[in-house]
Amino acid sequence: MYTQLEQRGMPQPPVNVATLAAMKASGEPIACLTAYDASFARLVDDAGTDLVLVGDSLGMVIQGHDTTVPVTVEDIIYHTRNVARGLQRAFLVADMPFMSYSDAARALDSAVRLMQEGGAMMVKLEGGAEQIRIVEHLAQHDIPVCAHIGLRPQSVHKIGGFKVQGRDEQQAQQMLEDAVSLQQAGADIVLLECVPNELGEAVRQALDVPVIGIGAGPKVDGQILVLYDILGITGGRMPRFVKDFMAEAESPLEACAAFVAAVKTGSYPAPEHCFS
Ligand code: KIV
Repeated sequence: MYTQLEQRGMPQPPVNVATLAAMKASGEPIACLTAYDASFARLVDDAGTDLVLVGDSLGMVIQGHDTTVPVTVEDIIYHTRNVARGLQRAFLVADMPFMSYSDAARALDSAVRLMQEGGAMMVKLEGGAEQIRIVEHLAQHDIPVCAHIGLRPQSVHKIGGFKVQGRDEQQAQQMLEDAVSLQQAGADIVLLECVPNELGEAVRQALDVPVIGIGAGPKVDGQILVLYDILGITGGRMPRFVKDFMAEAESPLEACAAFVAAVKTGSYPAPEHCFS
């Protein structure tokens, strides 16, 4: 009975939270990408991606909004369901959209929908110490949680733009303390966006759970990028941490495999992708 989830007829068993924890313990970098549909999900899975996120970045790269704020729970469920059909090995995480976790009951309801209707294996929410109660509530119901700190795109209107976070000592210290509190509250992964290398390394050292970075330097446990950014599809000015892997690839599959290899060997992120 239990073998179905572990094998799915694959030569390699699917990734789960224990796999990710073991990768951190053994020092194997975790390669993560976003995906929003079944075809790209199959492709990133074939490329060896360990974790796939149905990010609310879909509001920008799929729906054409300027921010992630307009994305709804229905949007994420729709895309997660499609991505779930394309995956065999990768671990599937779905974003909790803006205001879908504004209180504990609402958070539980949204998370249950993402898991039951979308097929997500973990939910991701943005926030530091102010989300402790929500993370605790979800963890008490055995819902795996990824806590997203650093630059929080859902707060862009409050922050006043997409900016590097944690550059001053007090803010860096607060972020470090928040990360520890989120882990204590039950977070299984911490995702750290747009912070100086030094802070990325300090958060990784302080936590037992995997720390996945996006613009958080090379000294974290894994890297994530938006799929359309690494394929050179997204228009406009790219953040410093983005690398277009399609520029030297002959196919999207080759570009995704090059991203996975670069994360695994540590050649991505290079100094030009990092903040100090
Ligand atoms: O929404 C998203 O795709 C994300 C990643 C950028 C980490 O949160």
